[in-house]
Amino acid sequence: MAKKKTKFMCQSCGYESPKWMGRCPGCGAWNQMVEEVEIVGRKKGTFLHTPSTSTAKAVSIKTIETVEEPRIQTDLKELNRVLGGGVVPGSLVLIGGDPGIGKSTLLLQVSSQLASKQQKVLYISGEESVKQTKLRANRLNIHADELYVFSETNLETILHTIEEMVPSFVIIDSIQTIYHPDVTSAPGSVSQVRECTAELMRIAKTKGIAIFIVGHVTKEGSIAGPKLLEHMVDTVLYFEGERHHSYRILRAVKNRFGSTNEMGIFEMKEFGLDEVENPSEIFLEERSHGAAGSTVVASMEGTRPVLVEIQALIAPTSFHNPKRMATGIDHNRVSLIMAVLEKRVGMLLQQQDAYLKVAGGLKLDEPAIDLAIAVSIVSSFRDQPTRAKDCIIGEVGLTGEIRRVSRIEQRVQEAAKLGFDRIIVPQNNLGGWTIPKGVQVIGVSTIVEALEYTLGG
Ligand code: TYD
Ligand code: MG
Repeated sequence: MAKKKTKFMCQSCGYESPKWMGRCPGCGAWNQMVEEVEIVGRKKGTFLHTPSTSTAKAVSIKTIETVEEPRIQTDLKELNRVLGGGVVPGSLVLIGGDPGIGKSTLLLQVSSQLASKQQKVLYISGEESVKQTKLRANRLNIHADELYVFSETNLETILHTIEEMVPSFVIIDSIQTIYHPDVTSAPGSVSQVRECTAELMRIAKTKGIAIFIVGHVTKEGSIAGPKLLEHMVDTVLYFEGERHHSYRILRAVKNRFGSTNEMGIFEMKEFGLDEVENPSEIFLEERSHGAAGSTVVASMEGTRPVLVEIQALIAPTSFHNPKRMATGIDHNRVSLIMAVLEKRVGMLLQQQDAYLKVAGGLKLDEPAIDLAIAVSIVSSFRDQPTRAKDCIIGEVGLTGEIRRVSRIEQRVQEAAKLGFDRIIVPQNNLGGWTIPKGVQVIGVSTIVEALEYTLGG
């Protein structure tokens, strides 16, 4: 009978050790060592490397010929954009997300769209039987001839099938269920995930097949198994959303073939995922008018401006240390803006709890939202509502100055499109672009000035 042996392995760099260590001696990362159970007695695996992309010798960059790889467009424009303009043949794409968020649904829809364009698609499910996949396909109204489903978890069989069928696309749902028979540890472990991914990478590159891998996300929010996986693949996408909302956001966190700022928005409906083409509308849908503490900002999400509401609630504290909580915004940013308000505007916020929230579950991390945060805080603190049709854009500096932001014209256009008639922008952003008709654009250079316009001093 096979005996079990335990070793520990770093999720970041793959360092192996016979005992657990808090800090990995290989890469210095903390808390990355996980237990790997090895079953001794089975054939030990060889270490499989990612394919080499080396040339025989160094060449002048001028002499390298390039052919623009044609990208394959799916019918989901939101997905094409996040991928950087369509699917690149021969690329390995990882899609991570919480269980039940809609990864299998998304990939099955994409598979069917590609299959209906005479591309051969192989959907490998290690989680569901072919009957279950068929039931889902019925619900999504999918009947494509060129879509093949296969319920299998043995990587050797999978590779063999791929080599025989030569599909243009392969979906692996999910990487945590697949195992390499030569690797002795359990499916989902660091070595399994690493070896399986390396093999999939090799076949993707050598055969020019685009492979999508599904990866589950742990409670901490990273893809289960090794971080290593993210380093290996070409593109990492996260599919997120609140379980109680039907909106889903697809974002790229790594992309060798495009920008990582792009975001795609979908809605989960009864018969599958639908694209949301006007995200600003949905993010403002539930805004209540005339409420203190609410402002709207035009934030860039990749190349697209999105209008979002920022809410603040400032209330006297009953704690020794006042609470500072922020959802969807970095709380250090909130602390910084509150410090600026104290020092430059003379507001006493030390005895106040502050809660901030980006409505609609978005995460914003660009400085152009600073001024809207500041106005929300002051509006709630004074219990004085902002004007419903104001849109506020600008970065706040430590001396209370309002600094220039990128792509002002696009932001203002989006705000105008959604009916905002007065837009507060940094003074330095004025000039050199056209202001849409029917919109008043006000340039401000200090936070005090901005508060005068928005809340009347
Ligand atoms: P699924 O794609 O199975 O999630 P994942 O693969 O990320 O675990 O999505 C499952 C959820 O989506 C489930 O709660 C049911 C819901 N759903 C719909 O609302 N409409 C649909 O058409 C489908 C197929 C699923
Ligand atoms: Mg699934």
